[in-house]
Amino acid sequence: MAEFESNSYDTAVEISKKIEADIALNPAKYRVLTGDRPTGRLHIGHYFGSLQNRVRLSKLGVPTMILIADYQVLTDHDAYQEISQNTKQLVIDYLAAGIEPGENVLIYPHSYVPEANQLMVPFLTLVSNAELSRNPTVKEEIQAAGLKSVNAGMYTYPVHQAVDILFCKGNVVPVGKDQLPHLEMTRLIARRFNEKFCKNGNPVFPEPHALLSKTPSIMGLDGTQKMSKSRGNAIMLSATEDETAALIKKAKTDADRHITYDPENRPEVANLLMLIALCTGDAPQTIAERIGDGGGGMLKKMLTEALNEELRPLRERRRQLETQPDYIRQVLLDGSQRAREIAARTLDEVRTAMNMCI
Ligand code: TRP
Repeated sequence: MAEFESNSYDTAVEISKKIEADIALNPAKYRVLTGDRPTGRLHIGHYFGSLQNRVRLSKLGVPTMILIADYQVLTDHDAYQEISQNTKQLVIDYLAAGIEPGENVLIYPHSYVPEANQLMVPFLTLVSNAELSRNPTVKEEIQAAGLKSVNAGMYTYPVHQAVDILFCKGNVVPVGKDQLPHLEMTRLIARRFNEKFCKNGNPVFPEPHALLSKTPSIMGLDGTQKMSKSRGNAIMLSATEDETAALIKKAKTDADRHITYDPENRPEVANLLMLIALCTGDAPQTIAERIGDGGGGMLKKMLTEALNEELRPLRERRRQLETQPDYIRQVLLDGSQRAREIAARTLDEVRTAMNMCI
């Protein structure tokens, strides 16, 4: 993929489109690496924004690594007590959504892959303090967490994210826009490593690219901010049908009874229409016309029905998986084992390149 060069959002979008067109034709050329922090259960924003996409990619036959970023939780959360619990809940959400772990699809916590974590030390020597402190996503997270004193893990986790991606030579990373600075750092580290240590012309690492989600960003039920558990505007995948109905009932709409799809002027109504569209596959404009003067009440009723129907099989599988803790643990152990084998091979190559073999 050397023909692609990414240095701006627009370029990232262009490259993303090219990869999308090629990946179905040549799935074996790619290795997808994605990850989540285990800070809680997943909600419908994750489902439409990333989970469905992961399921689709893995079903195309693209090797898919799904990493649970448990170390990253320590950078801005004090609550480490829940990490193990949250990790298992994430696995349940993945499996319920249709991810099928196996030879080509691995799920594992990054703390369980010591051979990969070892890459952190040489990687840290390839970036400067100035580069670390310029990262806009890190700056925003520091602000959002209201941290008085910022630990060094916070500034360096993007380097650890490069470890996550590069240890398995991942070359496609499905992410949202906020993760682009981290991907840029990963590319930089890969390039610098190859330039510095691989003078024989055999680069160890690929320069990975983002695969940007085609789904528009899902707003919370308040209609103005991104959906997130911490903002209290989310519908969790694990919610019951009644809880879902109650949450949607409280969703914000506006005073105009005539429903139209107008994201600019009526963001709350547009978001609910978009969610129905994601469930039914109809265009949001068509749905708006169908509701017409039916008002917010009918809009919410339609969304409740569409969403509960869409999620019914997932929630059923979720309930079953909740009763199989040994299986969930085994998925993580198998994923970790395979990830370690991959990491050990890369670490060997890295040692050889750095002239550290004994
Ligand atoms: N930083 C990501 C987030 O907060 C999680 C993550 C960790 C990740 N390592 C990754 C995402 C590697 C993609 C690739 O959501």
